[in-house]
Amino acid sequence: MTSMRKIHFFDGFSNESDNTIFNLEEDYGAHHYERIKLVVRHAKGCWLTDDKGEKYLDCLAAYSAANPGHHHPTITNAVMDALIGNYASVLSNVVFTDPLGIFLSEAAKFAPQMAPRFGNYGNKVLPKNGGVESVETAIKAMRYYGFKQKEIPDGRQEIIVFNNNFHGRTISVVSFSSSKKYNEGFGPLTPGFVSVPFGDLEAVEKAITPNTCGILVEPLQGEGGMLIPPKGFLKGLRKLSDDNDLLLVCDEIQVGMGRTGKRFCFEHEGIVPDGVILGKALSGGLVPLSVFITNARLMDMIFSKGSDGSTFGGYPLACVAGTASLKVFEEEKLAEQSAEKGKKLKARIEEIGKRSPYVKEVRGLGLFIGIEVKDGNAMEFCRKLLKLGLVVNDSHGHTIRISPPLVISEAEMDFMVAQLEKVLIP
Ligand SMILES: Cc1ncc(COP(=O)(O)O)c(C=O)c1O
Repeated sequence: MTSMRKIHFFDGFSNESDNTIFNLEEDYGAHHYERIKLVVRHAKGCWLTDDKGEKYLDCLAAYSAANPGHHHPTITNAVMDALIGNYASVLSNVVFTDPLGIFLSEAAKFAPQMAPRFGNYGNKVLPKNGGVESVETAIKAMRYYGFKQKEIPDGRQEIIVFNNNFHGRTISVVSFSSSKKYNEGFGPLTPGFVSVPFGDLEAVEKAITPNTCGILVEPLQGEGGMLIPPKGFLKGLRKLSDDNDLLLVCDEIQVGMGRTGKRFCFEHEGIVPDGVILGKALSGGLVPLSVFITNARLMDMIFSKGSDGSTFGGYPLACVAGTASLKVFEEEKLAEQSAEKGKKLKARIEEIGKRSPYVKEVRGLGLFIGIEVKDGNAMEFCRKLLKLGLVVNDSHGHTIRISPPLVISEAEMDFMVAQLEKVLIP
């Protein structure tokens, strides 16, 4: 059957019908995602197109991975040049490559000096192949710091995390999820994590023991329901980390790279963490790429030859995409675009919210906007919106998540608002 398939590179990958695609996934794929019944054949800018040429405005942007818009020409061309020029392929990690060196230096400079209390040594970057892998790197970094610097007996290190967190789905990371759907039946789970309510500084302070080595936090919780912690929360975490010699790591996989109207979400509170994790938009959504960035002094203290690594982590194609994506971020001022457009869009959605009998709260920063509905049935609204040409999803059941590509135009926002109004105002 595969050999019968015609390949149409310019209008989609195959000419199989939508039903065939649904059945192929049903028969041959693990059923680990709740999907909406849409087969996307083509993605460009903010628009997704199906088999019949119907267009849908992408209001999710792959949970921030497509921040610069789908198939951004600069990033796509960089990737194509690498493929055509034969410098894209994965190489043994025993050799150097120029895409890696160049990407590392750009990514290191992209962040402010991490962990400035350790000195102004610049940043160093450890690349991986997707968000959760870099979360694992950060966990290793915090634990090793505790062992080496704080002399916590190995195996006793504790990391403080937050209820409702989402940091990915490896065994260690789901071990500290508060959601049963992520970890039930997958035991034995990894010990060494203490979870406290998001936004509760007192609970954090109480949870600190002589074995605590770090705090891992999402500055805003995306999967947890588009939640914004109380003002001063990150500042408080910074102070507790300084007072107790803990490494504070921000997971900015979803909310970094301009999503909330700043380059990094932690900037909203004027703090600098000891380490930051980036993924998703880092390669402009074309190939998997993620990083853990920290102070050069810490990186050199923590990781030595053989203590970490990955076949594809930092391979040339990903680094070419990453370098191009960082360039697009600067040249197109994506953070500023997000701040400006997000302000306007949120005000318009708030105005709908005031008139809607269904809306409990509208919250967000930049182009990261959540519409919480009163009876927790956000998915019902998402299904209606799909019929009107918007791809949206729920967050934590109760909130409609609005996070379009940061390059969304005024006309596209008008279209989005008009459709939201249709479903939220009876
Ligand atoms: C805050 C956060 N951390 C980690 C992850 C995991 O990233 P990945 O799916 O690339 O492993 C996600 C993914 O949605 C995320 O939103």
